[in-house]
This record gives sequence, structure tokens and C-alpha cells, in this order.
Amino acid sequence: MAERTEAGWSRSGEAAPRWRSLLGRGRGDRAADPAEAANGAQRGAQASPVDEYVARLRRDMGPAKVVAFANPKGGVHKTTATVLCAATIGSARGRGVLAWDDNELRGTLGLRAGSARHARTIRHLIENLVEVENSSGEELRDRLDEFLRHAADGSYDVLAGDEDHRVARLLDPPMVWRVLELLRRTHDVICVDTGNNVESANWQTVIKAADQLVVTSVPREDAAFTADWMLDLLEEMGMGDIVANAVTLLSCPTPTPSPMLADLVKHFQSRTRTVAVVPYDPALESGSSIDYASLKPETRMAWLQAATAVSDGF
Ligand SMILES: Nc1ncnc2c1ncn2[C@@H]1O[C@H](COP(=O)(O)OP(=O)(O)OP(=O)(O)O)[C@@H](O)[C@H]1O
Ligand SMILES: [Mg+2]
Repeated sequence: MAERTEAGWSRSGEAAPRWRSLLGRGRGDRAADPAEAANGAQRGAQASPVDEYVARLRRDMGPAKVVAFANPKGGVHKTTATVLCAATIGSARGRGVLAWDDNELRGTLGLRAGSARHARTIRHLIENLVEVENSSGEELRDRLDEFLRHAADGSYDVLAGDEDHRVARLLDPPMVWRVLELLRRTHDVICVDTGNNVESANWQTVIKAADQLVVTSVPREDAAFTADWMLDLLEEMGMGDIVANAVTLLSCPTPTPSPMLADLVKHFQSRTRTVAVVPYDPALESGSSIDYASLKPETRMAWLQAATAVSDGF
């Protein structure tokens, strides 16, 4: 169905002309295209499931979707997962995907997504929010774009967090709703890196507003325990539905497989809708800029499967 967002992006048709150069860079690069990339991992197979995954990611998803990536434990690949899910969905869809670094304490998503053509962050968007909200159509997209950065391959946009921790105070529930509503007017999929503070109104508002929860963890007892505790907390807060529909993303931070992995897969399968496992990749270990094209084909294949599992809940 050729549906249009207010900003004029066709959900299933051609990209708006302004984005063609970005798409050309992203999608013209064979390695950055998830179908091409993952097909590399599938070479020789009779019938590749890759085209099916890409087709599922490209389908009309209806109204814009907010995806919250959460686990209050540090270092459990929230930021990595937010960036790589946005990159995978954005590469498949070609447009309309945004990653918001809503980490209250010095988020690193802006850095890891690569390009920074300006230093504007959520703080500057908040300062100009009324003006942007009052725009519509092309003007809205252009006004908002002044506050966004773009992934190096153009596959998704980034709304960066601010270095100043006092900005967190501005992000009270009404403000978080307004920002998300604005982003829903211009983007189809909004991936939010939620940070680590479950007590904050900001964190709780994003989870409440989310259409899909992604629980990230690594195969370690402390990380899995914290994820489990968070799911208990959300159930106690009356959010059993979002817990049951959640996807658990288990990332392997070392090349050696963890003996805990199989048990954790089983455990989170019993608590959440599905579990996806993504492998260790040396290109991710440095914690610096994430370059989708430098990931191993099997890593891209795993992220393609994971992102499809996430989008199946939309
Ligand atoms: N599959 C992987 N292979 C190799 N390294 C990985 C993998 N997944 C994550 N990492 C690395 O683990 C580190 C922690 O990941 P990340 O920064 O995404 O965690 P986080 O949950 O966002 O942490 P924080 O809560 O501190 O913001 C990073 O250096 C990242 O590059
Ligand atoms: Mg992080």
C-alpha cells in the first residue's frame, strides 16, 4: 500500500528525491545492503531466507513504531543493538528509520553511529520544539533534519543525546511524549536507546510509549539477572503485555561461546515472545564507530534475523 507519512515519505514506494543520494550511497554499497551482505553468508544455499527477511522488514508496518532497547545493567549491548537494528531496518527499508540516544548519562550512540555534521542534540530540538511541531509536510522534515545526524551509509538518522546531564531534567513525561509524537510524524521506525535508570520518568515514559520492547543481554549471570529483574518490575507496573511481546537479544561479547547461552535462551523464551542470538564480531569490540559494512557476513545475517524478529511484533 502506497501510504505517505506527513513528511512525504512513501512507506512502500519510491524514496523522496532528497534522500536518493543518501540511499545511493547506502544501498549502492553492496556490503551495506542487508540482502547482499547476508546472502554472502548464505552463498551456496538453494533457497536463501534473506529475501524473505528483507521483504518482511520492507512491508507496510502501519502507524510509526517505537522500539525501546532496555536493560539497566551497563555494557549489555543496548547501544550496539539500537544502532545495528536501526541500520538493518533502515538498510532494508531505505528510509524512515531513526535511532534516538535517550541515555541520560553521556550516551555514546551519536559517536558510534559515525557521522556528525553538526553538534546539535536533543537539547537543541527541545529548545526549538514548538517551531518544529508547528511545521508540516516537507517543511517539518527539513526543520527536524536540522537536529538529526545521519549514519555514514545513510541508512538511518540519529537524534543524539546531550553531554550535559541537566538536560535529563527537561525530559519529563510530557516532553518525552511530545518528542516521540514528533518523531512518529516523520519516521516509520524509532529505535530508542533507553539508558540505565529505571527510576527516571524518562525511562518509564519511553517504555510505556513503546510498541516493542527489546531486552538486551550478554550471556553473563549479572546481566541476565538484571534483565529478569527489569521484566518483573515492568509486570508489576502493569506492563505484562509489552513483556510478553518483547524480543530478547543475546549478544556474545567474546569469541568463545558461553556455557550459559543455551540456558539463557531457554529462560528468556519462557518470558518473552522470542530470543535472538547475535555473534561476537571483532569489528564491534573496540566500542568505536559501528560500520555496518565491516561486520562479518554471519554477523549481518544474525542481525537481519534479529531485526526481523523485532519487526514481526509490530
Ligand atoms: N557481538 C559483539 N561482539 C563484540 N563486541 C560487542 C558485541 N556486542 C557488544 N559488544 C561490545 O560491548 C561493549 C558494550 O556494548 P554497549 O556499549 O552497546 O553496551 P550498553 O548496554 O549500551 O552499555 P551502557 O549501559 O554502558 O551504555 C561495546 O564495546 C561493544 O562494542
Ligand atoms: Mg550504551
